[in-house]
Amino acid sequence: MAANKLKFSPLLALFLLAGIAVTSRAGDIAVYWGQNGDEGSLADACNSGLYAYVMVAFLSTFGNGQTPVLNLAGHCEPSSGGCTGQSSDIQTCQSLGVKVILSIGGGAGSYGLSSTQDAQDVADYLWNNFLGGSSGSRPLGDAVLDGVDFDIETGNPAHYDELATFLSRYSAQGGGKKVILTAAPQCPYPDASLGPALQTGLFDSVWVQFYNNPPCQYANGDASNLVSAWNTWTGGVSAGSFYVGVPAAEAAAGSGYVAPGDLTSAVLPAVQGNAKYGGIMVWNRFYDVQNNFSNQVKSSV
Ligand SMILES: *[C@@H]1O[C@H](CO)[C@@H](O)[C@H](O)[C@H]1NC(C)=O
Repeated sequence: MAANKLKFSPLLALFLLAGIAVTSRAGDIAVYWGQNGDEGSLADACNSGLYAYVMVAFLSTFGNGQTPVLNLAGHCEPSSGGCTGQSSDIQTCQSLGVKVILSIGGGAGSYGLSSTQDAQDVADYLWNNFLGGSSGSRPLGDAVLDGVDFDIETGNPAHYDELATFLSRYSAQGGGKKVILTAAPQCPYPDASLGPALQTGLFDSVWVQFYNNPPCQYANGDASNLVSAWNTWTGGVSAGSFYVGVPAAEAAAGSGYVAPGDLTSAVLPAVQGNAKYGGIMVWNRFYDVQNNFSNQVKSSV
C-alpha cells in the first residue's frame, strides 16, 4: 500500500512544481536604518540576512539653497567627517547583495525644492556626494550607494518629479550602474508630497507607509482598508514593485502596527497575488531588533 501511494503521479508532479513556483516568488524585506544609535551597525543589519534593501536615513536638510545635512542620529557625526567609516559597512552590505539607498527627507527635516534649477543642484549634489560622482567631502566616504529613496513628508511637492528625472539621467553614467529610485509615500492616495514625482513612472520600488493613517491601515483584524489602498496604489502608479510598509513594533509608529501573525495570515495573502508585489518595508531597524519582527515574518514574505 505504501509503495502504491508513492507511485509517480503526473498530478503530484504538477503540485510540486506549483509549490516551487510559489516559493520562488518570495518577496523581499526593506528596512530603514540610521535614526537610532542603539540599533547596531549598518553591517550588522546586512549580516542579519533579513534584508534586500537598507535605506540610510536621512538626508534631512536639502534644497532651497541650503547646505545639505545628513542626520544619522547617534551613529556618527557627518559634519566633522565622522561618518566616512560607514563606507566599509556599505561595501559589506553590497557584497552580500543588499542594496544601500540614501533616504532623503523624513518626518522632521528642513527640505524642499524651490525651482527646476534647485532640483538639478540637489541631483548633482547627491550624485557627487553619495553616488558615482566625486567630491572632496563625501559624508559616507568613497562607497557608491545604490540609489536614492524619496521619503518626502512635508513641504511643497513641487519639483520632486524633476529631481527624479535628473537622478535617473545619471543612471547612464558612472560605468552604467543604475541609480535605483525608491519612494515611501503614505497610504492615502495620491500622496500629498510625492504624487507628482510618482507619476513620472521612474521609481523602481515604492514602499507605501500603511501606518499613522487610520483610513488606510490595518486595524483589529480588519485588512480591508489596507488592501483597498494597496489596490489603488498598485493600479494608479507605474513602478517596478510595491511593498507593504509596516511598523516593526507597536512603539515604532503612532498607529498601524500589524502583529506578525496578523501580517502573515490576513495581510500578505491578500496582496501577494498582485504581480507588482515586492515584499514588505519595515520601519525601522531599531524596532525590528527589539521586536524580532522580520525574523518572524520573513518566511511568509
Ligand atoms: C526570532 O524569531 C525567530 C523566527 O520565528 C525565532 O526562531 C527566534 O527564536 C526569535 N528570536 C528571539 C530572540 O525571540
